[in-house]
Amino acid sequence: MITAVLVGAGNRGKDAYGAWALAHRDQLKFVAVAEPSAERRNLFAGAQDILPERSFANWDELFAVGKLADLCVIATQDRQHTEPTLAALDLGYHVLLEKPMAVTEQDCRLLVAASERAGRQLRVAHVLRYTRFFSTIKAALAGGAVGRIVNINHSENVSYWHFAHSYVRGNWRRTDEASPVVLAKTCHDLDLLYWFIGAPALKVSSFGGLSFYREENAPPGATARCLDGCPHLDDCQWAAPRIYLRAVPLLQTGLRSRYLHNRLLAGAALRQPWLFRGLSRLSPSLKTLVNWDQWPVSTITDAPADREAKMRALREGPYGRCVFFCDNDVNDHQVVGIEFANGVTATLTLHGFASSEGRWIRVEGTAGTLFGKLTTEHQEIVLYDHRRVQKKILLDLDLDLRGHAGGDEGLMKSLLASFDGDPSVPDDLETLTSARASLESHLLAFAADRAQHENRVVDMDELRREGEGS
Ligand SMILES: NC(=O)c1ccc[n+]([C@@H]2O[C@H](COP(=O)([O-])OP(=O)(O)OC[C@H]3O[C@@H](n4cnc5c(N)ncnc54)[C@H](O)[C@@H]3O)[C@@H](O)[C@H]2O)c1
Repeated sequence: MITAVLVGAGNRGKDAYGAWALAHRDQLKFVAVAEPSAERRNLFAGAQDILPERSFANWDELFAVGKLADLCVIATQDRQHTEPTLAALDLGYHVLLEKPMAVTEQDCRLLVAASERAGRQLRVAHVLRYTRFFSTIKAALAGGAVGRIVNINHSENVSYWHFAHSYVRGNWRRTDEASPVVLAKTCHDLDLLYWFIGAPALKVSSFGGLSFYREENAPPGATARCLDGCPHLDDCQWAAPRIYLRAVPLLQTGLRSRYLHNRLLAGAALRQPWLFRGLSRLSPSLKTLVNWDQWPVSTITDAPADREAKMRALREGPYGRCVFFCDNDVNDHQVVGIEFANGVTATLTLHGFASSEGRWIRVEGTAGTLFGKLTTEHQEIVLYDHRRVQKKILLDLDLDLRGHAGGDEGLMKSLLASFDGDPSVPDDLETLTSARASLESHLLAFAADRAQHENRVVDMDELRREGEGS
């Protein structure tokens, strides 16, 4: 049994790590929490049976009492990672830190050095490595499925509604409050490229911008908030009640499932909510579909099952704003081109306009081509061997609504197994998600941001030398 303390009982802290501990009580026990919001703190402490004297209003108070457990989980916002991580490592905690590890190159390097000095694990939550989808691709590539990798073309297709939620209305909409989207979101994808290609990057170019989610693109007569009598409420894809009250985009995901029962359920919840409400009295598990209380609704209010609380959040909070009248400044599309030291080239596209959330990848090698398509409703990996006609299906799965397609679960299993020295946990998963490995993806993100803003190709050796000298 591993014991842990939590810093930041928000969406990730409570709903990802806290929920995992509750589902695996024999493996992980939270014994303390630091969280300034009394409501969140009490919710977390109550659910995890934390003693009142182990509930703290901030990380300073938590760390002031010394080391209380094996692991410290840090799930505060992007700009609040460095300070608590340094303090936790200093006390001798192993640390699970949310990505991005920090928002400056200097702080990222500081964290790597501190974890190596302390001899403690600093695991960054690059959850995608632990999904069945990406670990299958990694195993295939490492096994030589495409021969020598020559080029990778990867896209991160963020759905129009997820992008609006996080990067237009929400917590990661501004660089000065969070970080550039290529770091906040795309560090996962840059990490995957580095993991698959297995060599440091040499050169990085990038183009992008905020083209669409801006005031000049608002339709005529649109109001600043959706519920202020906006004439477009009924036909706007970003209308807040459509996303947060009726969960239309999520139910539409169910409609795209290949299984009839998923399509019937989602269709009934969308088209005959009254009938569905009746049915949900017989089966409480259906209730969630008519009154969605999971992400993203769980981030707009601390009482996501309460319809009045949701209405209040939409009337008064940031998530009720028209997507064309927010104070966002992060890019809504960006492309990154990378040359790696082993000669492999890669392109990465990020955008916030997909109808279906997910990632596509195409890997070209000397002996074959691998295509992968990961969306919420379907996952498929296909391998073409140049010497044969038939394709090989490496993965073919339907709807997966688990956190990050099973990545949250995989990360926790791998982390806990590493404390037991479990030999079944592959070495590369262990070493490559070290803080030093994460530094590579973060440096790539800083380079891409620089390349875009300074309109030039960034030489990674130069960037590394600069960082090491600072
Ligand atoms: N791994 C992933 O794929 C993934 C997905 C989503 C978010 N994230 C990252 O996880 C982090 C947290 O995101 P979130 O959505 O849970 O944010 P959140 O805002 O819901 O939670 C952060 C919590 O930290 C608390 N906090 C603030 N100051 C504190 C202090 N001094 N001491 C203790 N707690 C404090 C806040 O009150 C809040 O409850 C972010 O860095 C985000 O980028 C990672």
